[in-house]
Amino acid sequence: MTLAITVLGESKPMQTVPINISARALNQNLERRGHKIVVNADYDLERRIREHAPALESALRELYADVPEFDTLVKRVLDLCRDYAEQRPAYLRAADLQDEQGHGWIQDPTAIGAMCYVDLFAHDLSGLEQKLPYFKELGISYLHLMPLFKSPEGRSDGGYAVSDYRAVNPALGSMTQLAAIAARFREAGIRLVLDFIYNHTSDQHAWALKAKAGDETYRQFYFMFPDRSEPDEYEQSLREIFPEEAPGSFSWVPETNAWVWTSFKNYQWDLNYRNPNVFLAMAGEMLALANVGIEALRLDAVAFAWKQKGTPCESLEQVYTLVEAFNRVARIAAPSLLFKSEAIVHPDEVVRYIGPDRCQLSYNPLLMALLWETLATRETRLLTYSLKHRFAIDPAAQWVNYIRCHDDIGWTFSDEDAAAVGINGFDHRQFLNAFYTNRFEGGFARGVPFQFNPRTGDCRVCGSTASLAGLEKALNEETSVEADLAIKRIALMYSVIYGIGGIPLLYLGDEIAVLNDYSFRDDPHHHDDSRWVQRPRFNDEMFAAAREVGSPQHQLFETIKRLGALRQQEPVLGGHDTAFIDMLDPALFSYVRHHQGETLLALHNFSENSLSIDAAIARDNVGSDGWTDLLSGMVIEPHNELLLDPYQVYWLVKKRAAIRHD
Ligand code: GLC
Ligand code: GLC
Repeated sequence: MTLAITVLGESKPMQTVPINISARALNQNLERRGHKIVVNADYDLERRIREHAPALESALRELYADVPEFDTLVKRVLDLCRDYAEQRPAYLRAADLQDEQGHGWIQDPTAIGAMCYVDLFAHDLSGLEQKLPYFKELGISYLHLMPLFKSPEGRSDGGYAVSDYRAVNPALGSMTQLAAIAARFREAGIRLVLDFIYNHTSDQHAWALKAKAGDETYRQFYFMFPDRSEPDEYEQSLREIFPEEAPGSFSWVPETNAWVWTSFKNYQWDLNYRNPNVFLAMAGEMLALANVGIEALRLDAVAFAWKQKGTPCESLEQVYTLVEAFNRVARIAAPSLLFKSEAIVHPDEVVRYIGPDRCQLSYNPLLMALLWETLATRETRLLTYSLKHRFAIDPAAQWVNYIRCHDDIGWTFSDEDAAAVGINGFDHRQFLNAFYTNRFEGGFARGVPFQFNPRTGDCRVCGSTASLAGLEKALNEETSVEADLAIKRIALMYSVIYGIGGIPLLYLGDEIAVLNDYSFRDDPHHHDDSRWVQRPRFNDEMFAAAREVGSPQHQLFETIKRLGALRQQEPVLGGHDTAFIDMLDPALFSYVRHHQGETLLALHNFSENSLSIDAAIARDNVGSDGWTDLLSGMVIEPHNELLLDPYQVYWLVKKRAAIRHD
């Protein structure tokens, strides 16, 4: 066999060497001699096509069997894969060879995610690069950059209305710069994640502009209806996403002389995937991003991509098939690329997006919502019950567990689960909305409502982690005692997502307890979208507060760093084996993890009261010779009782002679 090899870091970037040796053996051989070596992917590409083309074809057949010249379509998709595989930079091909074996990194406890807006967090891409030491300090190994593509100023939905997937917003930098940062961060152990905003484009995207100019090919990229008859029929079964600000799911666009499907804002045009040219075009955009060095793509608004009259047009069977088709394209042309599903829907549907053939990663909106639910009620029964039934997923996939993100909090627990523990779902959501928007006497939270829908009574909640957890109220109206409790609440929630199994995702700013930013109310582009309350522009004082020993921010920052360090040191935090334990005390939440021969028992007090519990739970699960609490480093002798301070968490393992400190 003949192989073209690239030896990185040498002056001659490409050497073609005929070698009669398998790709893997060649790599191993050269690695042993200290070379970083990349094998040209031609040979592997044809093998991958043989392996994945049948599944790709069958997915495409489910979606497009009735289009004329179906066989030509399959050929065009495979040609596209070949084109992008050929353009793929050599260092990414090396990653492909490794990752093809199963994306092991997503199972590793050292994986820690974080997300931010480049402009708000670091001004621009150069600023982001300077933050590398900060990311390393927090142990971050996966960084999700919020949409940074070209997007119309003032009509961008925080970047989610894209006018060009191949151009970075010039105020932030360029694609070349992004590619360089992706490579540099990868060297430093940080994988870059971006959004694949595949459900809609901005109305300023070249395709939309051509559609406006009357080009029939591009009109067919979108949904256009000459009058209200079809939109009215569809709307009978549709949910409104932004009822306050962008009611309905269609917008009249005079230039097109049509009602255009706009699930989100009126300038975000939904793409019509019934048209196979849309699939082809978006597969190209996806592979272009992969070739920039992006390692995972968040499938934005994944549920909405297929429409059918008489249905809610969310999570239809065809959406899963569509994700499978994109997945096979990635397996062929960019095997190290992963998908992360953003399905903020009923938990029965969330899991359907997860798996090696669909999305290898998924947000865990259920855990997120239930952590806030438990904090408000001080009762863990719905959390424990739901996780017992819903936390286990395909072992080849992984949860991305988060507390806050740039979006609202929706109470996406299942009404059936709630009923099973004696809770009425509708009433409970009303309570939670009241609690988190400061309409509940004595509550600690300072959140704001998002998109109240008077027709359904539905509402969602916005706010920063710190404000929702009580820090804003404590600092403005109370004492350091309450501030301390607020910090403990945040630390409690973060310890759950760092410990429970899966990849924790830090919403940057949470680690330094950033409060709500109400300035969005004066911004004409944002005043009607309260999600901006948790999207502050960072400044030096915020970071300085986290360095001030004794400040609440410093306390939290140190805790989050410690959690990160423990994930580097403790293999027991990896893997999938988490079992939830019913506790007698309603405020206690507990799970036990087994991995690589070790056991960890986590105990959490979700109330502001001290609790004492029978130590039998630790003896039964971890052993009777005493325990080490990984969080504090303390050794606990086997007493009859375990004491938990307000909001305290224990991570108990078998007693260790000396605790490893970072
Ligand atoms: C996703 C994003 C959200 C955006 C919407 C439309 O849900 O997270 O911010 O508004 O998609 O793209
Ligand atoms: C997403 C979610 C929805 C959320 C919206 C805007 O697509 O499905 O729950 O509220 O975007 O943030």
